[in-house]
This record gives sequence, C-alpha cells and structure tokens, in this order.
Amino acid sequence: MSQNQDAVIAVVGSAMMDLTAYAHVLPEPGQTLVGEVFTTGFGGKGANQAVMAALCGANVHFIGKLGKDVFGDAIAENFNKVGINVSYVDRSNTPTGVAHIWVDGEGENRIIIIPGANHEIEISRAVDAINNIPDLTIVIAQCEIKQEVTIAAFKAAKSRGCTTILNPAPFEQLSPELIELCDWIIPNETEFRELHGALPTSDEILKSFRPGKKSIVTVGSQGAIFIDSDGSLVKCPAPQSTAVDTTGAGDSFVGSFAYALAKGEDPATAMRFGVKVASRSVTKKGAQSSYPDQAEIKTFS
Ligand code: RIB
Repeated sequence: MSQNQDAVIAVVGSAMMDLTAYAHVLPEPGQTLVGEVFTTGFGGKGANQAVMAALCGANVHFIGKLGKDVFGDAIAENFNKVGINVSYVDRSNTPTGVAHIWVDGEGENRIIIIPGANHEIEISRAVDAINNIPDLTIVIAQCEIKQEVTIAAFKAAKSRGCTTILNPAPFEQLSPELIELCDWIIPNETEFRELHGALPTSDEILKSFRPGKKSIVTVGSQGAIFIDSDGSLVKCPAPQSTAVDTTGAGDSFVGSFAYALAKGEDPATAMRFGVKVASRSVTKKGAQSSYPDQAEIKTFS
C-alpha cells in the first residue's frame, strides 16, 4: 500500500467456531457417506473480516459477544494473537456461535450457523464502542448479528463521519433505514440478486443498483465489480487459482478492501488488492486458516 494514513477499523459482527467436514461428494438426504477430513477453525463473517484487516496491518477493534466456553476462550485468544483490540468483546452465558460446514470436492461449501452469543450483542455497547474508539475511520458489519445493532452502530458511525460498509451475508431482508446508512454495500452474486431482483449479468443491471451510492459485487472466480456512485463500473478479473475451499473468501475480500480504503487508496485500487487476497484464500482449507500472512500480503500491494 502506497498510502500512509492510519487504518482504524471497527467490525461489529459475529465470531464463530467453524466445524468443517470435507468430502468429495456431499450426502443426499437420508444418505451416509465417508468424508476425508474434519477440522475446527476460527470463523464467523465478522471475525474473519476483522482478522483479515488486522493481518493487512489495520488497527482493528472487534465489537461482539462470545460464550463463556472453550470456543469463546479460543476465539478471544486468537483475537489477542492477531492483535485485535477486544475491549468491546463481551461474554455471555449463551454458547459461542458455531458454524457447521460441508465442503465438496470443488471447494464449494454449505453452511449452517447457530448464532448463539452473537445474537446477544447489546445496542448500547455497540454504540458506546463506535463513539469512543479513537481515530475510527471505517465501520464494517454483516448479517450474522441482529440488524437493530448494526443500524444503531452505523448511525453512530455516520454521526462521527466514519465510512460504513455492509456485507449483506447471509442474506436477510434489509430495512430501508439500514440501506440508507450504508456508504458501501458489498454483496456476492446471490445476495445482489436478493437485493436487486436480478443477477449482476449486464452493465445496465449493475448501474441501476443503488444509484448515487457505491457498491462492489464479488463474483467468485470472476473477481469483483466496483459500481461508483455515478454508475460507472470498474471490473477486476481474479487471477487463476485452484479452489480447495471457498469458505471465508468473501470475508477476506471485505477485510482487505476495507484496510486499503482506510489507508487512503482509491476504491478501484482497494478492490484489486482485495481480489488478490481473496483469490489466494480459496487455495487453502478453512476461513481464517486460509488467509495469507503479512509477508505474503506485502507481495499483493
Ligand atoms: O463467510 C464464511 C463464514 O460463514 C464461516 O467462517 C462461518 O463461520 C460462517 O459464518
């Protein structure tokens, strides 16, 4: 990254323990199959985005809730290891969120999340965090926590002049109030279709998404498309890579894109950086376990 301003980012979001089974072919209903590998790993869309931004070099604050259990302890320790500020990570008697993931031979996944403690983040804590984190520039959220928490956090963020980024995943109906509070919305293709009523298959469809506001649509192995507020488009193809596991790739895009934007890069440059990082993440198993380290990230700038 050529720019030198501090990247202070808050992620209001989910943290989960990912329990992943890898099998060449996934079972049909009523069928039992023998798989290849089972892993436990750090996940949750919010935590993945926070960790990715921190690995890039951002000063990251995570606002979330973990259970008082072994998964919660392990996630908190991982945040400390990565250097994420945990002053606003609270603990609950409700268990830590978990994600049950199946990954097939093509690297495609199916995920069931059990939100657990993630659904207990308090509005007042999120607002307090956003109001008090020094030099905050960007606030990121997703849809694995309650929408009312994201709305309150984004309102606080906007009133202190921060940029807000929503990754609408997993898709849920977004309130008009939340959509209005988003400077950026970053959906994948299916989330784009849910939001806009059509897949992002033509320039006309892309240009008519949120006129006057900025968005990026991630299009898997095709890369990403930046839709500027004036409707102009910048398309960034992804480098060729062999997908082993796509889990968390979209999150690595959001975290690294936000980092580059917070450093003062223009959106198209930040998008290109995010596409390189995400393309690398699909070549390894797991979510956070697939993310490049600081030395490798430097080669993407
Ligand atoms: O986006 C990938 C993430 O979705 C996984 O890490 C899993 O925890 C689910 O939240």
